[in-house]
Amino acid sequence: MPHRSLHSNAQPMNVAVIGTGYVGLGTAALLAHIGHTVTGIDISEEKIAMLQRAEVPIHEPGLDALLASVQSRLTWTTSYDAVAAADVVFICVGTPPGPDGTPDLQYVVSAAASIAPHLNGHTQVIVNKSTVPIGTGDYVTRLLEENSVTFHAERHAVVSNPEFLREGTALHDSLYPDRIVLGGSPDAVAHMTRLYAPLIEQTFVAPASAPRPETYTRPAVVKTTLQSAEMIKYAANAFLALKISFANEIAGLSERVGADIEEVMTGIGMDTRIGSRFLNAGLGWGGSCFGKDTQGLISAGREHNYDMPILQAAVTVNYRQRQDVLQKLIRQLRTLKGKRIGVLGMAFKPDTDDLRDAPAHDLIERLHGLGATVVAHDPIAMPRASREWAHLTYHEAGSVEQVFDRADAIIVATEWTDYRTLDWNALTPRMRRPLIIDARNIIRNPIDAQVEQIGRDAPAAEEFTMETSL
Ligand code: UDX
Repeated sequence: MPHRSLHSNAQPMNVAVIGTGYVGLGTAALLAHIGHTVTGIDISEEKIAMLQRAEVPIHEPGLDALLASVQSRLTWTTSYDAVAAADVVFICVGTPPGPDGTPDLQYVVSAAASIAPHLNGHTQVIVNKSTVPIGTGDYVTRLLEENSVTFHAERHAVVSNPEFLREGTALHDSLYPDRIVLGGSPDAVAHMTRLYAPLIEQTFVAPASAPRPETYTRPAVVKTTLQSAEMIKYAANAFLALKISFANEIAGLSERVGADIEEVMTGIGMDTRIGSRFLNAGLGWGGSCFGKDTQGLISAGREHNYDMPILQAAVTVNYRQRQDVLQKLIRQLRTLKGKRIGVLGMAFKPDTDDLRDAPAHDLIERLHGLGATVVAHDPIAMPRASREWAHLTYHEAGSVEQVFDRADAIIVATEWTDYRTLDWNALTPRMRRPLIIDARNIIRNPIDAQVEQIGRDAPAAEEFTMETSL
């Protein structure tokens, strides 16, 4: 049922969203949900045709339902004509890393060039939501100016409004953000606070697929310069990546000295200066952001002749983690030649079918290179893998059971709930050798198999469990 959920002070605006990837689709759905009229634009005719048929090209929980509920305020097109009527134009295109780690800006450049001819006499704020190198906001302003006869610096300001959503929880993260960062001139930022008023004041009706958390009140709004907003995005991702690599580095030492990484991280996370989140040791980070953004900062440093050894170390530790998991396997099986190895999980994290920089990719590639037969499974990402990982050699498991059948070992690469809740003892008898390398530490109770985890001994029958009291 359509509803007008805008706060009385807020006026519905016309918005154009360029790019229909994770960020563009999430942004379009959010803005339509809070009452604006949105046109989603993409150069891919295939993606637009899908969206026009109400099919969502990516797997993101709740997104299809939310898009369906706001369809009366959403239009999909390959034409930039809608920019003319837009009060705000979001650039949400990809910025994939180039060979040296510098983000490739070709899609941002072509989006800006395509927007420019449609700018006109009214105030139209152009928003950069794509993660772009610091200074890109000014560059986009110049591109608009060069490609538009009607460009006017005061009416057509560029704002940086970085996105912090996580795949798999994108709706929740965009409806109930910790903060909204707006970088640009005071007028342009004020225009954006009007657009976001229902979000800032939380006056919209929470969708069924993403209920408002009971403890949530409203997001902080950070108003700053273009450059600081662009830096906030990189620094936030880099810091989260550091936390993960820190946990992994301490996990490696914990294994060697007999400490338990889960208890160690719980123990340090209770210090509010540190915080408990993003300290899960495992296979390290993957996905589209952390690898790209750490490299992006390192390469920005290089451009300015400035070393960034902390970030460099975080990257090294992250990818070492993938090798270490294989070493655990080799220590147990000695040689992988002729061995049958099951891989549970291909997506870079649960609840997404995104395979970018997924640790499972490197594991499958190395396992095959070392002579193993690989049988891989993922609850959602298998069809996508058969397209995007056609260069890898592995067998697709038709079911989880098939991963276990005659396997010499199984590696848990992604912590899907489906795997957390497996009846391991019913499955391990199918294996040739019951060896589980649980690289995501999901096995919580002793099972009838040899289990290797990251930074801890596998749960034993008589386990001492950490007790905490206030
Ligand atoms: C990340 C940022 O969280 C988000 O703010 C930004 O907008 C985009 O990048 P995303 O990549 O979707 O989001 O997923 P996230 O949940 O952050 O996980 C990133 C990777 O880190 C995953 O591979 C995950 O498995 C790994 N991770 C995360 C850990 O290994 N340990 C942790 O404690 C947390």
